[in-house]
Amino acid sequence: MPKPAVPAPDPARNAPSPGRRRLSGWLGLLMACLPVLAARPVLAQGQAGTAQRRTPSQSEGPFYPDKPPADTDFDLLRQGATAYGKGQPCWLDGQVRGADGQPLAGAVVEIWQCDAEGHYRHARDGDRADPAFQAFGRVQADAQGRYRFRTIRPVAYSGRTPHIHVKVKQGQRTLLTTQLYVAGDPGNARDFLWRSLGEADRAALTVPFTPGADGLRANFDIVVTA
Ligand SMILES: [Fe+2]
Repeated sequence: MPKPAVPAPDPARNAPSPGRRRLSGWLGLLMACLPVLAARPVLAQGQAGTAQRRTPSQSEGPFYPDKPPADTDFDLLRQGATAYGKGQPCWLDGQVRGADGQPLAGAVVEIWQCDAEGHYRHARDGDRADPAFQAFGRVQADAQGRYRFRTIRPVAYSGRTPHIHVKVKQGQRTLLTTQLYVAGDPGNARDFLWRSLGEADRAALTVPFTPGADGLRANFDIVVTA
């Protein structure tokens, strides 16, 4: 009895299907990207496990207070018993977290900015600042890393777009020095420091100042390497 003929191999059966070719392509791309993803040092884990960028630093500038005011609490609209009535009042609040995404309880947050006429409380500015404006504040973040200041929406001064200077410390160690900008301010695009930022860094340092029940409200969350 003749043996049944052995069928010739069908090249189409051994070739990968279009689906398998696509899967293999994606796997190849993933393998090629793994070293790049692993090497991104600016990423930290957020609370929900999502990757978050560390807040970018910026220069301190020339006006960090040479003589801090007697009153350095959260309320920059009140210097001791004197109230400051100029500018647009606003609340500035946020949360400080470490690179592991956990709240940095006890971190010290400092802000300083010019008054509504654009003058800093500093000898370099000719001591022209309004003494009623506290101009500098220092608070300690709570157990959830939260901080809050009462101040004015920053204003522009010679060559600079509106900004608030921010410093974060832990004990005597400075963890971050940066500047905070107002989203949508037309001066941003002309400001040399704001323009020097990449798109992601601009987004991290530029926040909306939105109307609220008792003035404007701005939220600025900060991620630092502790
Ligand atoms: Fe400044």
